[in-house]
Amino acid sequence: MDTSALFNIGYGLYVLTTRHNDTDNGCIVNTVTQVTSNPLQIAVTVNKGNYTHELIMNSCVFNVSILTTETPMFVFEHFGFQSGRTVNKFANCEAEHRAVNGVLYIPKYTNAFLACKVNNSIDFKTHTMFIADVLDAQVLSDKPSVTYDYYQNHIKPKPQTPKPSNGKRRWECKVCGYIYEGDFLPDDIECPLCKHGKEEFVEIFDAETPKQSPITTNMNQIKLTDNIFYVGVNDRRTDLFENHMELPNGVSYNSYLIVDEKVALIDPVEAGFIEEYLFKVKSVLQGRKVDYLIINHDEPDHSSSIAAVLREWPEAQVVGNAKTFAPLEAFYGPIENKKVVAEGETLSLGTHTLQFFMVPMVHWPESMVTYEQANGIVFSNDAFGGFGALNGGIFDDQVNLAFYEDDMRRYYANIVGKMAMQALKAIEKLGGLTIKMIAPSHGLVWRSNPAWVIGKYTQWSKHEGEEGVVIVYGSMHGNTGVMADIVARGAAEAGIKEVKVYDVAKTEISFIMSDIWKYKGVIIGACAHYANMFPNMNLLTHEINEFKPKSKCFGIFGGMSWSGGGVKTLAKYAEEGQWNLVAENVEVKGAPIREEDWDKLYNLGKTVAEAILKV
Ligand code: FEO
Repeated sequence: MDTSALFNIGYGLYVLTTRHNDTDNGCIVNTVTQVTSNPLQIAVTVNKGNYTHELIMNSCVFNVSILTTETPMFVFEHFGFQSGRTVNKFANCEAEHRAVNGVLYIPKYTNAFLACKVNNSIDFKTHTMFIADVLDAQVLSDKPSVTYDYYQNHIKPKPQTPKPSNGKRRWECKVCGYIYEGDFLPDDIECPLCKHGKEEFVEIFDAETPKQSPITTNMNQIKLTDNIFYVGVNDRRTDLFENHMELPNGVSYNSYLIVDEKVALIDPVEAGFIEEYLFKVKSVLQGRKVDYLIINHDEPDHSSSIAAVLREWPEAQVVGNAKTFAPLEAFYGPIENKKVVAEGETLSLGTHTLQFFMVPMVHWPESMVTYEQANGIVFSNDAFGGFGALNGGIFDDQVNLAFYEDDMRRYYANIVGKMAMQALKAIEKLGGLTIKMIAPSHGLVWRSNPAWVIGKYTQWSKHEGEEGVVIVYGSMHGNTGVMADIVARGAAEAGIKEVKVYDVAKTEISFIMSDIWKYKGVIIGACAHYANMFPNMNLLTHEINEFKPKSKCFGIFGGMSWSGGGVKTLAKYAEEGQWNLVAENVEVKGAPIREEDWDKLYNLGKTVAEAILKV
């Protein structure tokens, strides 16, 4: 249905006057109709919020003065833009013109009046239709009656409406011209002058307020609060995060928009998703501009769309800290409009105030978090993030957390874990704030139970491992794999229920690192490869020494073909990484077909298991 069709109904404009208990009042109406000629009756419909309505309900008399095309705007303003509850609209009348019913009529700018007495009424919830006998009628001039259309085109001033003073959008009441300013037009708005509702308001535009795009207001709006929006995207097409970590469940690049007197966009998204991202941001902004682009972290999975964002809103100020801009400009070239914030500095957007806290090395040196004070929201960037695209559920209370926990720990172990101390310091620093919601740049938004994710990050940062053993092997022809099974038997028989065995050539390293972070026991096995070890194992051992998971009980085993190399290389890594080796290294010639080798491997698993059970 196209309700604008109703605008094509012809309407006149009238001053409806009444009198009750010596109080005269009147208002502008456009709903006068003759309903019968014998008896002569008219109908007029009046909004219940009008003071004139209240008086007619008591007096049951009214006059209709029919306005002409010569009526100046001030007459409409006088009777239509103010309430008789606060203003005596007839206070300065020089001469009283009363009809037979005792009610005033308007002698100037009118061509006739009708004096009426109410004989019936119909209640329309918001309005009342008064049906009245016409007691008297007089023609006052031969000027043509004004129509609503004429009023709009010839009397009402053309929009010399106030320019938006603060970037706000504006809507005009079509009935009386009242201007409403705000971010959105409330559903329950009632014009304070003429009492009409939302359906009578139209948005007005001028050079400073671009006409809105065809993007509809309600699409893609995911709210953290009334004025804070989630505008992130899901990436299910990238195979490898940072080009080396598998993404079987995808990943989200979260971004947030705060709409206040000033608009702040917090951390953009990976550039490959720019179209979807801009669509989402614009669908919220509806023509408003971004005033601040907050860069909590320079890494390109967030910042690579910065140029596209600034092309869209070139006046936006880019907000970062003292370490933000050198890398950012190294990636993307000069940034003109910079705002450097310091530790604890605040930035007011209107009712929202942002405060910035540095969390260096979580994940890069310039990393910071943005705290929104009014609602207690921490925009934490990589901290408290996780792998896994957001499958409809954006908030922690909308999903089964068990589905996300492994992906969160894998993210932590491979991205934040190396800086566990800094992560811990960051958690302690944020502990002084009232945190009601954690909004990271990857993964779930924690609005119901932020303590859950803080607890997990604290546990992982403190290297508090769980009871379990990870056994990883590299094997060219399967013999070292057979050895791994014997080691696993020893660990299981010693009472460890969580024993995870991985072939390093089959399972991508980030998954193995995640379990190494999770469990207390780590047993690594590698066959020889020339005088070194199985090549794929080098990457894992490199990562272990890079990320330095602590409080582990390590063991080493491997096979040798002619001169060995697997165990020897592992021992070198162990020495460099100061692994806590709790058992003798086991090296087996060929296959584990001799009982003594079988015993050594079994006891390796058992010894590591017993060590972790004691911790
Ligand atoms: Fe998600 Fe370190 O970037």
